Amino acid sequence: MAKKKMTVLDFKKYKEEGRKFTYVTGYDYTTATIINESDTEVILVGDSLGNVMLGLGGTVPVTMDEMIHHMKPVVKGAPNTFIVGDMPFGSYNVSIEEAIRNGNRILKEGGTDCVKLEGGVEFADTIKAMVKAGIPVMGHIGLTPQTTSQLGGFKVQGGTPEGAKKLLDDAKAVEAAGAFSMVLECVPSGVAKALTKALKIPVLGIGAGPHVDCQVIVLQDMLGMYGDFKPKFVKLFANLRADMIAALNTFHKESLDGQFPSPEYSFNVKVEGFEE
Ligand code: KIV
Repeated sequence: MAKKKMTVLDFKKYKEEGRKFTYVTGYDYTTATIINESDTEVILVGDSLGNVMLGLGGTVPVTMDEMIHHMKPVVKGAPNTFIVGDMPFGSYNVSIEEAIRNGNRILKEGGTDCVKLEGGVEFADTIKAMVKAGIPVMGHIGLTPQTTSQLGGFKVQGGTPEGAKKLLDDAKAVEAAGAFSMVLECVPSGVAKALTKALKIPVLGIGAGPHVDCQVIVLQDMLGMYGDFKPKFVKLFANLRADMIAALNTFHKESLDGQFPSPEYSFNVKVEGFEE
C-alpha cells in the first residue's frame, strides 16, 4: 500500500503523539521515486545541491532558478512524500517583500509543500510575514551552511552556555514567528534535547543527537556516494560509491574483452546481406 503523504498539520500532531519520522535530501526524479517507495516521510530539495549535485563547493552560489529546476522533478517523482523547498542565499535576506516573492515562486513553480530558510531571531519578522502571506515555513538554526563564514566554519553550535542560550532564543523566535517545524544542525545532544522539549513544533535534527523529533540526513552522504567530505554525524548506511565504481569497472572490462553485450543483450535479427 502506498504511504500516506504528511501534511503541514501532521508535523505538530506527530510531535504531540511522540511519533518520530525521517527526512532526507533529494534533487532529481529517479532518486525521488526511490525515496517515495521507502518509508521516509519528508524530502528536502536542499541548497546542498550546490555541493552534491553542482560541484560548487558550497551553498552560497546556488540560485533560485537552480533550486526550482531541481524541485520540479522531485515533486513529480515523490507524490506520497512531503517536499520541502530550500530558499537559497540571497533569496530572503534583501527584504521581506523579496522573501515573499521568492517563497511564492518556490510554491508556484517548484511545486513543493513548504519552504525552508536559515536564521533565528534576526529572521523572525521575515518568517512571520511569509506565514501571514500563506507560505508554510520550516526554520533552520544551529549550523547554518549559508553563513558559515560568519560562524567561523563548519563547527558545532551551542557548545557554551551562552551559545546554547542563543540557540534557545533563536528556536523560540522561529516558533513564535509561525514556523511549523525547525531544522537544528550540528548541536550537542544535550542542548538539542532541551530545545526539543522546549518547543511545540518538531525539531528536525542533523548532527543533533538522538533526542530530536526527526532525523535529517543528506542522501548522498548516508548512501556513501559523496566523496569530497564526510561530517562526523554521517553514518554510512550503504557504500554505493564503491558499488558504482565496481559496476563501472566490470562494464569496462566486459566491454573490452567482448563479454558484453552477449546475445541476451543484442538484437539477434537476421538481415539479408548482413552477417551476424
Ligand atoms: O540543504 C541541505 O541539505 C540542508 C540540510 C543540511 C538540512 O539544509
